[in-house]
Amino acid sequence: MNEKEALERIMQLRRELDEHNYLYYVKNEPVISDYQYDRLMKELEELEEEFPQYADPDSPTRRVGDDRNQEFRQVKHNYPMLSLANTYSREEVTAFDRRVRKSLYGKVEYVCELKYDGTAIGLRYENGRLVLAVTRGDGEQGDDVTANVRTIRSIPLKLKGKGYPEKFEIRGEVYMPRDGFNRLNQERLEAGEQPFANPRNAAAGTLKLQNSSLVARRPLDCFLYYLLGENLPHDTHFENLEAAREWGFRIPPHIRLCSGTREIFSFIDEWEEKRHELPYDTDGVVVKINSLAQQRSLGFTAKTPRWAIAYKYRAEQAITRLVSVDYQVGRTGAVTPVANLEPVKLGGTTVKRASLHNADQIELLDIRLSDMVMVEKGGEIIPKITGVDPSQRAPDSKPLSFPTHCPECGTKLVRPEGEARHYCPNETGCPPQITGKIIHFISRRAMDIESLGEETVELLYRNKLISNVADLYKLRKEQLVPLERLGEKSAANILENIERSKNTPFERSLYALGIRYVGETVAKKLARHFGDIDRLAGASREELMGIDEIGERIAGSILDFFGQSANRELISRLKEAGVNFRLHEEEKQGKSNVLEGKTFVITGTFRNHSREEIKELIEQHGGKNTGSVSGNTDFLVAGENMGPAKKEKAEKLGVKMISEDEFMDMIGKK
Ligand code: IVH
Repeated sequence: MNEKEALERIMQLRRELDEHNYLYYVKNEPVISDYQYDRLMKELEELEEEFPQYADPDSPTRRVGDDRNQEFRQVKHNYPMLSLANTYSREEVTAFDRRVRKSLYGKVEYVCELKYDGTAIGLRYENGRLVLAVTRGDGEQGDDVTANVRTIRSIPLKLKGKGYPEKFEIRGEVYMPRDGFNRLNQERLEAGEQPFANPRNAAAGTLKLQNSSLVARRPLDCFLYYLLGENLPHDTHFENLEAAREWGFRIPPHIRLCSGTREIFSFIDEWEEKRHELPYDTDGVVVKINSLAQQRSLGFTAKTPRWAIAYKYRAEQAITRLVSVDYQVGRTGAVTPVANLEPVKLGGTTVKRASLHNADQIELLDIRLSDMVMVEKGGEIIPKITGVDPSQRAPDSKPLSFPTHCPECGTKLVRPEGEARHYCPNETGCPPQITGKIIHFISRRAMDIESLGEETVELLYRNKLISNVADLYKLRKEQLVPLERLGEKSAANILENIERSKNTPFERSLYALGIRYVGETVAKKLARHFGDIDRLAGASREELMGIDEIGERIAGSILDFFGQSANRELISRLKEAGVNFRLHEEEKQGKSNVLEGKTFVITGTFRNHSREEIKELIEQHGGKNTGSVSGNTDFLVAGENMGPAKKEKAEKLGVKMISEDEFMDMIGKK
């Protein structure tokens, strides 16, 4: 293929992929299979790699983010980013209608929309291209989160059709769908990380991540609901939204023109229940005046537009009595207070338990035993206590005091600085931590000894047959058979599964160890980088932090884990039993040792590879990545726009600087 043909094909593929993205992410109507889509994408990726002169930051191949840290630049809003007047009362909606009719001439028409529960975003477009994405911030200025927003596939980088103003802004809500939120939280729990409280926090937190390639992997989406600019095509909000839909924006499907309060209330009633069937959270209805001229004539107060009001649905709530509080200790030692309640009906189910989160929350709400408490179902799975009715409190009630010692093993609890949770530090002697670790070890995504099951683990522990994961490999049939519920057959089955688990791939046996913050993804990276557990155990903080996505917190946790002699002993017992802690040969294919003993720092951006790819290549060929130039650095792989500080330091220390091409030569790829 010559250059001209390549360019034509590249342009065609980009057009096609943009269209398929639009059909898939905005319209929800894909017309090709995932497989066909992936093939087109792959073809484009390959062409762009072969013909780097045709690179385009707006190409559909580029929605994967960038792994460089960004600091958010502050941007002043062209139009202040206001909030909405809120109400829970229908009377106030009626009063709003009366008020606006009084000060307006002519017919008044409203647009009803759902109120999406996420985080507000303003997108600026110039000549049909996305140029800036800004968070609300303080309403006057916000953070420039463009790099992160570009990874949200339903947000067009280039507009379709015609008729859009040369410059305009469109605002909307970035949110996380509930199932994506549940998956993300599951992963965080498995990695011993604090889960997000609700989808809104998860969306807001994700938008503020410093690394857009991480954002690209989180399930964010966006609805747009408000256009701003000098030359909008129509005089009504509704028509402008419909026009924006044609330009490729994801405009909410559930919007309705209403002529008065009767129709407004019918929209509100209709969605009160139906909204729970939507795959994302909504917390009310926004009522807006449709005519832009009327909007202008009503204007704004200091904080909110006078031409709109948000009617909020009350969260489903119930009042019941707090009977007692359990303090549950998890596998990482985190202590979670859980309330036991007098059973009460809430949103179709009977609630007996509710989360109290942590000590701060208990103190903040001043919750006491026997109090009548408010329980609410939000986006979370387990309902939470949101308040107390002090008027129904017994005069002699005393504040709840968070235990100072572990309710399971009596060890004094600790609360690490900056953390909201208390922990029991007795990792090797506290029963729920011991069984929790074993249960994690046998779980399907770890060693997959599922036939054992949680209850049997507890049974074996109570019978003093196991007290850590290495003990599993010492179990004998005659110990199992006499136990209640375990016959010959299941005992044999369990032992067979334990035996088979010895061949678990390294990345999973590493994940199975339950090192805090080492979830499946991190375990995979560590396994690939180090190849076996001894090299990992001997790694320095610097080497750990040189690995992509491993920061201070994860590195600290790994060092801490291998620093404990009990853990080192456990691993050597597991190894003796035959558990696999090294990469299989076939996983090492495509690798060499040509960079063995060499330490690299990479800087800048590269023409043909992402930074992540180069880092991976260094690791695959036996080299080491580190984050900063020092006396130990052998090579600085320098891309475009390299940091001047790194360059200066490399020159001063006499570190050899090489280009992307020279690096490829070193590993025999060109
Ligand atoms: S219109 C000047 N429409 O709710 C008014 N806002 O509590 C611009 N929100 O700041 C906002 N759904 O972040 C509008 N359909 C919708 C909305 C919506 C959610 C958010 C938005 C706003 C906040 C106010």
